[in-house]
Amino acid sequence: MDNHNYKNKLKMDSLPKHIAIIMDGNGRWAKQKQQSRSFGHKAGSKALERIVKAADSLGIAHLTVYAFSTENWKRPKEEVNALMKLLSQYLNQYLKDTKDNNVKIDVIGDITKFDEEIQRKIEKIQELTLKKNGLNLHIALNYGSRDEMTRAVKKIVTDVMESKIDLNSIDDSLISSYLDTKEIPDPDLLIRTSGEKRISNFLLWQIAYTEFYFTDKLWPDFDENDLYKAIFEYQNRERRFGTI
Ligand code: IPE
Ligand code: IPE
Ligand code: MG
Repeated sequence: MDNHNYKNKLKMDSLPKHIAIIMDGNGRWAKQKQQSRSFGHKAGSKALERIVKAADSLGIAHLTVYAFSTENWKRPKEEVNALMKLLSQYLNQYLKDTKDNNVKIDVIGDITKFDEEIQRKIEKIQELTLKKNGLNLHIALNYGSRDEMTRAVKKIVTDVMESKIDLNSIDDSLISSYLDTKEIPDPDLLIRTSGEKRISNFLLWQIAYTEFYFTDKLWPDFDENDLYKAIFEYQNRERRFGTI
């Protein structure tokens, strides 16, 4: 158990502008407690609320969370259904609470695969929080980096064919501007919980120079101090970006 209070150790003038999180381990957390996987997902959504609040009050500008991947549809039907139900409840809760907080929400990923009602709620939340000036919370839903890049390539090719852009104007910033994350700076810090050390199709283009932080904590157990600890470690790394 690490009982340090990491919040006091943070340099407030050099916080990461953008933290991305692969919220992993809900199923194993539930299994340890001999509960259903959906019980774990529910606890995971509580952890998300806690971390959003902590990041917002710390003054983090962008938080991107991986909530449902393009591959997660391959899980058993009951689990996918339970996740959709939970997503719907989470969105309802947010719709109710939006006036009480300053968080601006947007969704990355291809939401056209969700049912109409969920799509409408997502659009409503994005609209209602558009003018908020606190944390920018980007929720990755039916998100996969390869899918995002595939959609971007199709759009770029279409725009070239329709002479909206010139072939020679394609460079990294143009490619970035066709991704779902076009308005978001690249992540400074990527956190993955649950001990897995892989990226699982998350933000492949955007993490070129991101610092990685892996922890064995399962996502439902991840708390404010774990977030501060990850930021503390980030602040003690040297980022070179290819220079010396
Ligand atoms: C992360 O927890 C949540 C989603 C992927 C939706 P998992 O459900 O992957 O939990 P584990 O990895 O099986 O423990
Ligand atoms: C990544 O976790 C996706 C989310 C956290 C939403 P997974 O649990 O789906 O990833 P793998 O299958 O272990 O790589
Ligand atoms: Mg997992």
